[in-house]
Amino acid sequence: MRGYYIAGNWKMHKTRAEAAELAKALVEQLRDGKHKYLVAPSFTLLETVGPLLKGSNIVLGAQNMAAEEQGAHTGETSVLQLKDLGVGTVILGHSERRHVYKEDDALINKKVRLALKQGLDVILCIGELLEEREAGNAEAVCETQTVKGLEGVSAEDLSRVTLAYEPVWAIGTGKTATPEDADAIHGSVRAVIRRLYGESAAQRIIIQYGGSVKPDNAAQLMAKENIDGALVGGAALKADSFVPIAKFA
Ligand code: 13P
Repeated sequence: MRGYYIAGNWKMHKTRAEAAELAKALVEQLRDGKHKYLVAPSFTLLETVGPLLKGSNIVLGAQNMAAEEQGAHTGETSVLQLKDLGVGTVILGHSERRHVYKEDDALINKKVRLALKQGLDVILCIGELLEEREAGNAEAVCETQTVKGLEGVSAEDLSRVTLAYEPVWAIGTGKTATPEDADAIHGSVRAVIRRLYGESAAQRIIIQYGGSVKPDNAAQLMAKENIDGALVGGAALKADSFVPIAKFA
């Protein structure tokens, strides 16, 4: 009953010309794609990429947003500004936001609630550090991030939330979680959703896997019961690698 959802997080890459070239190639090559798609370019590229995606099957996403609607927040970008550019979805709680820019669960939760209140869909990222996995705490860390990230989110609003499990040690390292290890965490996160929101919400919620997803490992990951898509970083920067992932067989 859940469809697959493949998203590309372009992180801090590309000029406007490069972004336009990639967006055009993806629109063309994913026209006959069967799944749900999103690309999330940097803020400076949204106005370039947005119009190119119009009428396509690819949603325009942003990589972050401020926790406040507007005001004196130098260097931040508001949900209202994202909506103004046609952004439909925002990625929140990415591990680079959590660990490099020190965003904590309370701040991420504030952003999640604001995005949902303002009508955006959310991809909420969770995932453990290597030392947390080695200490046997991967499930517990993901549970805490899920529970705290979703605090105050109604069952109705949850239908606009996608979760993305991105083990920090697998991001940009070439090390992918095995499909079995990823599926185990996805299953435990789905159980958290079942406990908080009930069985049908647990069955419906899409849980993407992220962390060194490539054309040659996408199909094995997607074959797993609880893996419903991918959040792709490095391999999302070229049509040649993103399209085969998006059209995994
Ligand atoms: P990589 O695919 O480069 O490992 O990045 C994953 C990621 O962080 C997507 O948000």
